[in-house]
Amino acid sequence: MKQPQAEKPNYGNWVSTRFIYGPGLVGLFFFGLAIRCPLFLLLAAFCFILSLYFAYARYIFSPQGQNIQDRVQGLVLSNLDWSGEGMILDIGCGSGALTIALAKKYAKARIIGIDNWGRQWGYSKEICEKNAMIEGVAERVTFQKASAAVIPFDDESMDVVVSNLVFHEVSGVKDKKDLIKEALRVVGKGGRFVFQDLFLWKRLYGEPFELIEAIREWGVKEVELINTSESAFLPVMLKLPFMVGTIGIIVGEK
Ligand SMILES: C[S@@+](CC[C@H](N)C(=O)[O-])C[C@H]1O[C@@H](n2cnc3c(N)ncnc32)[C@H](O)[C@@H]1O
Repeated sequence: MKQPQAEKPNYGNWVSTRFIYGPGLVGLFFFGLAIRCPLFLLLAAFCFILSLYFAYARYIFSPQGQNIQDRVQGLVLSNLDWSGEGMILDIGCGSGALTIALAKKYAKARIIGIDNWGRQWGYSKEICEKNAMIEGVAERVTFQKASAAVIPFDDESMDVVVSNLVFHEVSGVKDKKDLIKEALRVVGKGGRFVFQDLFLWKRLYGEPFELIEAIREWGVKEVELINTSESAFLPVMLKLPFMVGTIGIIVGEK
């Protein structure tokens, strides 16, 4: 008799399907216009290439491809040096993948995942809670709707704060450094922090050494920036600045 398959968690994909279908449809539109003016063929070709690129990226990020999404989240985990007892906050937890991985790694920790769960990725609190249940960590993990711009926790209330590829996505915040400052606000004295984002993209964060200097001045005991965009497992095709070509980890102790 065939055994029923155990339910698998759904961690989604950072490359939304609208990045594939959007340019594809616009490309078809331009292709239609090319009957009147062949120059539109160029625009159509550009849109089709864009659509193919995002389809490729979505596949490579997924477990069926090279599982890059999971491996990039793993960089946050591997850079966290912690005793494992206390409270962790995961800012912008998405589908809960990193939050749940932390719960599985640190069996004595409690973890809170926050996210504003906008429409872009199709993530939600319900998906996170279901994933936590499937992975058997639901009793130590909670999820809450909140913004990275105004974290609804007291100063120095967390033992560890992590965040993965979130700050660059937060809209309405002119200076992305303010989000790092807000995240550090809730780290307790002696607590650890590991933030991964597009920290090497100067357009967003300025010169890396100035960023680290600014963080030091906000009163942390130690801080360093690790260039994770050079990780050997990252395919060259994903190394565009807005993909994972400028990722870095800011790690330290408050
Ligand atoms: C690329 S995804 C990363 C998700 C997750 N950290 C991971 O590693 O899979 C970016 C996430 O940032 C979240 N986000 C965007 N703006 C936010 C905000 N203002 N506050 C909290 N989360 C936000 C999105 O909802 C999304 O879940």
